[in-house]
Amino acid sequence: MSDVILKIKRQESPNSRPYWEEFKVPVAPKANVISLLLEIQRNPVNVQGKPTTPVIWDCNCLEEVCGACSMVINGVARQACAALVDTLSKPIVLQPLSKFPLVRDLMVDRQKMFENLKKIKAWVPIDGTYYMGPGPKVAPSVQDERYLISCCMTCGCCMEACPYVNPKTNYMGPTCMGQVKLFNAHPTGAMYKDERLDAIAGDGGIADCGNAQNCERVCPKEIPLVSIIAELNRETAFRGFNRWLKGKPKGPGLAAPG
Ligand code: SF4
Ligand code: SF4
Ligand code: FES
Repeated sequence: MSDVILKIKRQESPNSRPYWEEFKVPVAPKANVISLLLEIQRNPVNVQGKPTTPVIWDCNCLEEVCGACSMVINGVARQACAALVDTLSKPIVLQPLSKFPLVRDLMVDRQKMFENLKKIKAWVPIDGTYYMGPGPKVAPSVQDERYLISCCMTCGCCMEACPYVNPKTNYMGPTCMGQVKLFNAHPTGAMYKDERLDAIAGDGGIADCGNAQNCERVCPKEIPLVSIIAELNRETAFRGFNRWLKGKPKGPGLAAPG
């Protein structure tokens, strides 16, 4: 078993000062970053041999499904459970995601993403839980497209990479755009299609995307966020134009041409 140096950005509470602390941790073959953090939890002694507090982080599934263990590893937002130590350059540098409120050390509060999902009605409406017969048929090509987007685990990596998700904007971020596409492509979910388009046409919506395209590059599920955003841009513009033609009152943030 060899040793690896971990350099971790630490912060005791949301308002305390951040600081760096280094650890020398024994590493077993095929270990992931979570196993290194568990080792520090078992033996919280820093590289100077001084006892310290265990590092705090979040995780759940340990198989890149829940998104909870997302952090910045060697400068890239990704899941600690899927980051194999053998594949990382050393020392390994760990930082919390910077686009979410810090809880402690490597743990952040991703709630704002879930609040944004409420704004875009990221669900399929149903009338009740009783049996309503078979649902509408969906073409295999649409199923395939939807399946890929449904793998989004609200991990926040795309939010971290997007320069337009920052304290100066209300931009809800690329995560939501993928989910608008997902639920609008469902035959029953499409009942809310217009509301979803209006939500992303409003404050903090798609107009805040600067097309930097970083989001798609970091998405661990390879969701085609850039083409989804381009498609939704066309759909929101088309809807806005149609409303203007019909002389209907504009939706939130829908500027009438002219
Ligand atoms: S395309 Fe760029 S600006 Fe738009 S959501 Fe992705 S990273 Fe952000
Ligand atoms: S779109 Fe990709 S990067 Fe963004 S939250 Fe979903 S899984 Fe994570
Ligand atoms: S613990 Fe769930 S994605 Fe890593």
